Amino acid sequence: LNAVTYAQKTADISTVSEKALSSILEKNRSYYTQGKVADYIPELGKMDAKAIALSVVDKNGNIYNTGDVHKKFTMQSISKIIALMIAVNEKGEAHIFDKMGYFGSDKPFNHFSNLETTGKPLNPMMNAGAILTTSLISGEGEKPFLKILDMVRYITKNPGIDYSKSVYESEKSTGHRNRGMFYLMKNNGLISGNEDQLDNYFKQCSIELTAEDLAKIGYFFAHQCVRFDGDDKYKNTEVAKLVESQMLVAGMYEFSGEYARTVGLPSKSGVGGGITVSVPGKIGIGVFSPSLDQHGNSLAGYHMILDMVKQYGLSIF
Ligand code: DON
Repeated sequence: LNAVTYAQKTADISTVSEKALSSILEKNRSYYTQGKVADYIPELGKMDAKAIALSVVDKNGNIYNTGDVHKKFTMQSISKIIALMIAVNEKGEAHIFDKMGYFGSDKPFNHFSNLETTGKPLNPMMNAGAILTTSLISGEGEKPFLKILDMVRYITKNPGIDYSKSVYESEKSTGHRNRGMFYLMKNNGLISGNEDQLDNYFKQCSIELTAEDLAKIGYFFAHQCVRFDGDDKYKNTEVAKLVESQMLVAGMYEFSGEYARTVGLPSKSGVGGGITVSVPGKIGIGVFSPSLDQHGNSLAGYHMILDMVKQYGLSIF
């Protein structure tokens, strides 16, 4: 545990400015040299390791951006929180969590736990649970994926968001471990459909967005599923609590426990280099830097969040 230096709040988050964000970004820019861009999916390896961005949506829905604000990247595992929300809205929490656990993660995101013991995924944040969650969204063929895409467009108010066909093809042609999980869950009676359902998972991982879009997603779950502009069509306190609690215990994979200690905020990472952060009742934060630590979390992203938390006293604890 080397990241703990005790937090000393120096400013109130209501005073946040692009200038303040910019100095946090510059302080942490060089962390990319200590990590590695994901290349287990060949197409991801093409990302520019030096790209970096930090965005905040404040309590009133105002947006602050710094760095490579127009740079798009794939949301990867961050799509899992959107899929969870949709599945629970459609089927109810009991139906979904009859088939998987609420457990925290102490395993890498692509671990088979607990498919060989209890037969059920640990949680909806690891790949197995996420693949299952998406398979539980109703609709034939591509429909469940399109619901996820539409929800991302709605939350960000950004109808131009789409998925990267090349990343999708790359995930599909190399994702044999995910395919293995899919068939093991089919064998266990949790999944009844065909591989279209796995393709939906690969597609959701390939949705491209910016750090600002991630800040809006963070804001949405921090505000009971109310959008940054106040639209409350999906307002649901319980769903927001569910999603945030899973982000807290499993959103950063096996790093989640240490992250809860050092950052103390519901967050979700993706191997594209993004992290979305919810500061409950307050703000949303989106960070991007594609160089990852050994767990698959953005290294500079983590350190920018850590500085935000220290400077503005944002931990929930
Ligand atoms: O399933 C995979 O291999 C990826 N497409 C998504 C995983 C991911 O983002 C895990 N992240 N930290």
